[in-house]
Amino acid sequence: MSDTVQSSSGRVMVRVAAMDDLAEGRLKLVRAAHAKLAIVRTGETVRAVSAMCTHARIFLAPGNLTSDGLIECPMHGAMFSPEDGSVRCAPATKPLTVHEVKLLDGEIFVDPGEEPVEENADTTKPGARPSAAQWGNWG
Ligand code: FES
Repeated sequence: MSDTVQSSSGRVMVRVAAMDDLAEGRLKLVRAAHAKLAIVRTGETVRAVSAMCTHARIFLAPGNLTSDGLIECPMHGAMFSPEDGSVRCAPATKPLTVHEVKLLDGEIFVDPGEEPVEENADTTKPGARPSAAQWGNWG
């Protein structure tokens, strides 16, 4: 099977995992092309959201969802809905970006979205963050 498929809108979707690799009620971090994503399985449905908390741009942690089925940031405790990325508990105020998911023959494909254009991305300065393209293998 190919590692990519097309979405209904013609976008390239990347294989990130098999359904059998994804336990229900747990958050899994995956990489799809340039995007770092958090995926969650509920029954036969899989949701994908950005893996970076919108509060202080810390990566979410793999592990169990809360008892309410929410994603909790390990840094300051913000909570997000895995269904629509909405904020359910402060201090975050902006939702997580939702990514389209397609299930095909037990495989999970996700639209990584547009690659962010980082202006003034000078990673030679102390404290500068690497661009998405400069990340190594992750996951
Ligand atoms: S970094 Fe996630 S709540 Fe602050």
